Amino acid sequence: MDDREIVGPITRQRRVTLSNTRRGSLKNLNELNGRLNEKSDRAGKTKRKAQESQAENANEKNKRNGRGDKMSCHTLQESLLSSSSEFSNYRGILNWCVVMLVLSNARLFLENLLRYGILVDPIQIISLFLKDPYSWPAACLVIVCNVFIVVALYVERQLAKGSISEQFGMFIHFLNLSIILCFPMATVLCLPSITPVGASFALGVYTIVLLKLYSYKDVNKWCRERRQVRARSLSRSLSCPSSPTISSSSQTHVSYPGNLSLRDLYYFVFAPTLCYELNFPRSPRIRMGFLLRRLFEMLLLTQLLVGLIQQWMVPVIQSSMKPLQEMDYSRMVERLLRLAVPNHLIWLIFFYCFFHSSMNFMAEVLQFGDREFYRDWWNSETITYFWQNWNIPVHKWCLRHFYKPMLRRGGSKWASQSAVFFLSAFFHEYLVSVPLRMFRLWAFMGMMAQLPLAFFVGRYLRGNYGNAAVWMSLIIGQPIAVLMYVHDYYVLHYQELPQTTGL
Ligand SMILES: CC(C)(COP(=O)(O)OP(=O)(O)OC[C@H]1O[C@@H](n2cnc3c(N)ncnc32)[C@H](O)[C@@H]1OP(=O)(O)O)[C@@H](O)C(=O)NCCC(=O)NCCS
Repeated sequence: MDDREIVGPITRQRRVTLSNTRRGSLKNLNELNGRLNEKSDRAGKTKRKAQESQAENANEKNKRNGRGDKMSCHTLQESLLSSSSEFSNYRGILNWCVVMLVLSNARLFLENLLRYGILVDPIQIISLFLKDPYSWPAACLVIVCNVFIVVALYVERQLAKGSISEQFGMFIHFLNLSIILCFPMATVLCLPSITPVGASFALGVYTIVLLKLYSYKDVNKWCRERRQVRARSLSRSLSCPSSPTISSSSQTHVSYPGNLSLRDLYYFVFAPTLCYELNFPRSPRIRMGFLLRRLFEMLLLTQLLVGLIQQWMVPVIQSSMKPLQEMDYSRMVERLLRLAVPNHLIWLIFFYCFFHSSMNFMAEVLQFGDREFYRDWWNSETITYFWQNWNIPVHKWCLRHFYKPMLRRGGSKWASQSAVFFLSAFFHEYLVSVPLRMFRLWAFMGMMAQLPLAFFVGRYLRGNYGNAAVWMSLIIGQPIAVLMYVHDYYVLHYQELPQTTGL
């Protein structure tokens, strides 16, 4: 008997044993699979089920390999990039996107440096705020705004005491709010020494104060209404915000009219919210590490923003003036796309710097507990979702003081939403047109265009397509508005357009 004859039956026997074992283990695995699948079905988590079966397939494969069975190496499975494979780990692709983004931007950065040299000039920032170092009109305007804050408090105190009627109090409040809206506008338009940047800062502060005082007026009015209801019904159960109570966190609770103090009002004025409350949620202590991190981010990102604007955005805008004036469409589109990148980057940095760093910094200093300044707007699949989630302080104010009151008065949902967007469009235009001292309605139209855009995206685009549409509207929409304003500003203020390098 030669070796092959001895080895042959042994090998066959081993194969039979192995295949029996495999069948057995497969049977066990199938049973396990069945049991696991039943469990998954009960839980209703189909995704988990797919992952488990994938893992089992892999296990099965490993076991087979371990036993040296090389006869079958295929299993029933989908390619990873097929949607039916339910594969969802694209972390590597995301990293690739980041690497590509960094590389392409590094190229743009180098190209920009080679073409324009270093344009960053920190001294120039001061001249953006001040024309004359001895005249600080924007700062003076901001200081004057305290008068209106004190007037609102005085009116509320008189209303609480019953010294003035509700109607008269409301009249004074609306007069005060109208002056807050018109006074800075008139000052900016009449005072040539105020720069556009200084003016937009002052107007921004006034707009925030306006929205805050409106909320202050509303909440105190609601408190008086509750007090009256309580007085009429003589019921303790309705005394909710008006009766002194001690919270579980043993922090003293303020009750109406005990809240009508300068300290309480100024806490609200500086707090990172537009909606007034008698008792804001408070964080237990100030975390120094957190505070310093936010401060560092604020300083660093502000410098980065200014540097990017000077080095990247301004040259692109300047080189876009000629094609815009000559209505050279292909060049216009090229310049628009060129501007879209720095503009979007600057907007993202601004978002982080303002909504994360600055607001958290203020909240930490004031131990203000509610840190929801933004939600996951970057996942927006509809325009509506974006506006509900990107600027939470404004959205909350719109809902609480404008949208819901309109709905309660019988307004339809569509009319109320349109009214909110109209108001928002008005303030966007106010904050851009007044500092630039020209009324072109680009910002107003941009905001109002959100309504049809929201309808279109909500109706025709879903999932990733919807998300891409939201990103497109942000990336392309903003530079269009920027170019329009800058072009009109140049045409209005400079007889000769700046000599551009062409490309
Ligand atoms: C217009 C706007 C307020 C709509 O918000 P929305 O969340 O889509 O509105 P919805 O219709 O879903 O309703 C929101 C709330 O109103 C309530 N509501 C709906 N109908 C109601 C009615 N008839 N009566 C009372 N409340 C009602 C809902 O229950 C919901 O309450 P909740 O927030 O407590 O859950 C929002 O899109 C917005 O804020 N837009 C402007 C944003 C903006 O300009 N930001 C500027 C950033 S720079």
